[in-house]
This record gives sequence, C-alpha cells and structure tokens, in this order.
Amino acid sequence: MLKTRDLNAYYDESHVLRGVDLDVQPGEVVTLVGRNGAGKTTTLKSIMGIVRQRTGEIVFDGQPIMRLTSDRVARRGIGFVPEERGIYATLTVAEHLTLPPVVGKNAWPLERIYDLFPILKERGTSMGTTLSGGEQQMLAIARVLRSGAKLILLDEPTEGLAPVIVNAIGDLILEIKKSGVTMLLVEQNLRFATRVADRHYLMVHGRIIESMTNAEVIAREKDLLAHLGV
Ligand SMILES: Nc1ncnc2c1ncn2[C@@H]1O[C@H](COP(=O)(O)OP(=O)(O)OP(=O)(O)O)[C@@H](O)[C@H]1O
Ligand SMILES: [Mg+2]
Repeated sequence: MLKTRDLNAYYDESHVLRGVDLDVQPGEVVTLVGRNGAGKTTTLKSIMGIVRQRTGEIVFDGQPIMRLTSDRVARRGIGFVPEERGIYATLTVAEHLTLPPVVGKNAWPLERIYDLFPILKERGTSMGTTLSGGEQQMLAIARVLRSGAKLILLDEPTEGLAPVIVNAIGDLILEIKKSGVTMLLVEQNLRFATRVADRHYLMVHGRIIESMTNAEVIAREKDLLAHLGV
C-alpha cells in the first residue's frame, strides 16, 4: 500500500533521511522506532509532502506521490496525526469533525465516529483545547478517519499520556485496524508498540536498519530500550 525507495530528505544543508526503504501492506499496523533525532518524524512528514526537499520514490496505492502537495496526498487517502495533534482552541469538538471537507469514499460517517469515540459525542460542544491530552489524541485520530484516510500516519500517539489512557488509545487502534485501516506509527513505548502492531522498523541515523517481528522486539526489549534511551 505504501512503499518508499531510497528516500532522502534534507533541511537545507542537513541530510536527514539517508535512503529510507519501507513497505506497509494493506491492513498492517507498522511502527517506526528509533532514538531522538533518528528521523522518524521527518519520515512521516516526507511521506505527507510536508518536508519538500526529498529525493527517491514514494508510492501509495500504486501511484507515485512525491510530486503532490500535502493536501493532495491527504486527498489520496493518507491522514497525518502530528505529535502536536493540531487541535484548535477556537473550534468545538463537533466542529473539528464536521468542518473539514470529507474527502475519500472511505470517510467515516459521524455516527460511526461517535460509536467508536463516545467521549467525543459527550464533549461535542466543548472547545478543542479544553479536552485532556488523551481526548485530544482521540479527536485528532477521529478527524482523519472522518476525512476518509485509508492509511494513517501517527507521530508518538501515546506521548505524555497516563498508562490507563495509553491502554485506551491501544484499544482504539486495534478497533480501527479491524475496520481495515492501515497505520504507520512512530512509537517509543515498546509494550504499546508490540500490543498494537504487526511489525516494527528500527531507524538509526536516517536509515531503516531492520524490520522486527513482535517476538523479536519482546526478546530484545532490554537492548532496544538501552539503544532508544527511554
Ligand atoms: N525543521 C527542521 N529544521 C532543521 N533540522 C531539523 C528540523 N526538524 C528536524 N530536524 C533535524 O532532523 C533530524 C531528525 O529529526 P526528526 O524530528 O525527524 O527526528 P525524530 O526521530 O522524530 O526524533 P524525536 O524522537 O526527537 O521526535 C534531527 O537531527 C533534527 O534536529
Ligand atoms: Mg519525532
């Protein structure tokens, strides 16, 4: 469904991604793990077309997408949930879910969103930034489902959340996976990663150096945590 080949990305003179090759199959949940500064966020932003200085190949659904602007990439069916979540103080929860254009034929109807995220229905008239961190994460995920994303890129969805909320986000990701949505997520919490994902890429200095199964991550947990510095 998603493939990058020899993907390089730059911030001016700084060469950050150095030949990233990754593949995500339809219906898979894949994580990208790596220490601070490895290039995980840059990988997601390069796929989205937010980082523009790139070379190599990015193919989504059989079509090259490197030349597309980020809103066109979104229209093709890739949703991005940034680390900052992008929730607005001036919009209500319901407005976050109703104002953006519904783009894809896979767009979830509002009722389906509220079935999966009842808290967002309860909090419908609250302003976005009055939600807790976990609720804002849910709203950010709900918004991309609403827009019809077939592939969702999530940047550290559990960062800063209490363990019970991390579990709730994990339950949601598993439910979303069941519905056939594909996900690529950046995650430092290996317990969470092995609970929700099928496979894991280890990124070091702007390169993907290996793909690991859940069993491999669990077996190497101590070494990986030491490497990640978490
Ligand atoms: N806007 C930018 N301008 C210049 N350099 C940047 C910019 N954003 C990131 N970098 C640099 O690019 C490298 C990769 O950063 P990136 O944010 O992709 O790493 P990351 O793996 O997501 O790290 P973290 O775990 O801290 O989120 C780092 O050296 C970082 O300092
Ligand atoms: Mg990052």
